[in-house]
Amino acid sequence: MDFGKYIKRKREIVNQALDRCLPDENKEPKSLHQAMRYSVFAGGKRFRPILAIASFEAVGGKGKAILPVACAIEMIHTYSLIHDDLPCMDDDDLRRGKPTLHKVYGDGMAVLAGDALHALAFELLLQSKNPQVVYEVAKAIGTEGMIGGQVKDLEAEGKKVSLKQVEYIHTHKTGKLLRASVRAGAILGGADKATLSALSSYGEKFGLAFQIVDDILDVVGKEEVIGKKKGSDKANSKATYPEVIGLEESKNLAKDLLTQAKNRLRVLKNEKWVFEKLADYVYERIG
Ligand code: IPE
Ligand code: IPE
Ligand code: MG
Ligand code: MG
Ligand code: MG
Repeated sequence: MDFGKYIKRKREIVNQALDRCLPDENKEPKSLHQAMRYSVFAGGKRFRPILAIASFEAVGGKGKAILPVACAIEMIHTYSLIHDDLPCMDDDDLRRGKPTLHKVYGDGMAVLAGDALHALAFELLLQSKNPQVVYEVAKAIGTEGMIGGQVKDLEAEGKKVSLKQVEYIHTHKTGKLLRASVRAGAILGGADKATLSALSSYGEKFGLAFQIVDDILDVVGKEEVIGKKKGSDKANSKATYPEVIGLEESKNLAKDLLTQAKNRLRVLKNEKWVFEKLADYVYERIG
């Protein structure tokens, strides 16, 4: 199958599943449910749920058991973006091509809609009936994962940081959830040890490269494509790869990491091409 078609189909599957999993906007508290849906359906590439599904299928997983897990991961990601955009964090006005949630519904509702997505995600994760899957995700987004990275990101604002520090920030705030998406799919699909380890390593490299590319796009991206305002990192004096090693070196490093990611896929029997194309797609974003 053609990669474009593959992504389109998977996105549709994910969007339909998200629609089923989210509370109806006409159900009380209506404003909360509307706010949650506003952010989830504002757009979004659905990279994480697609990675989870691809991983599940690559190791022989069949049927729809992965869908609640894939939706949970996208809800966690969306909650992290809602909070990340708040005035007390990155203070951004545009997300997924639309005004950020707090701009439309206010800061209080943005905090609470994020919290509600986070809670709903765990309800959905439990549908997997697989404690290891729930653990993987919980661990990836906690103090030693995404939130740990977000804390270091905030604390680094306005400071000169080393390459080691920015690597910590990026592997944690973004890398851990991307890695967990791949791992959760593989675990639920029944991956053997060697395959899980290979996919894990792919996820790790991919995750770091993904955030480096995000940093690069904050400098060179087109707003109508990235759906957010450029220059936010500079305005907040953020620790980014372009700031620490320069734009060209950042591009080289992202490319190198994505090549390394693809090289980990040798043990994979099915769907290897999907992971290769996903890695290429990340780099092509800065094309
Ligand atoms: C943006 O993630 C924030 C990062 C962790 C880099 P995405 O680029 O995946 O955002 P959406 O989901 O497509 O909006
Ligand atoms: C976001 O990193 C990471 C998380 C939301 C966990 P950024 O702050 O760079 O993401 P954007 O650029 O706002 O999407
Ligand atoms: Mg941020
Ligand atoms: Mg941000
Ligand atoms: Mg960014």
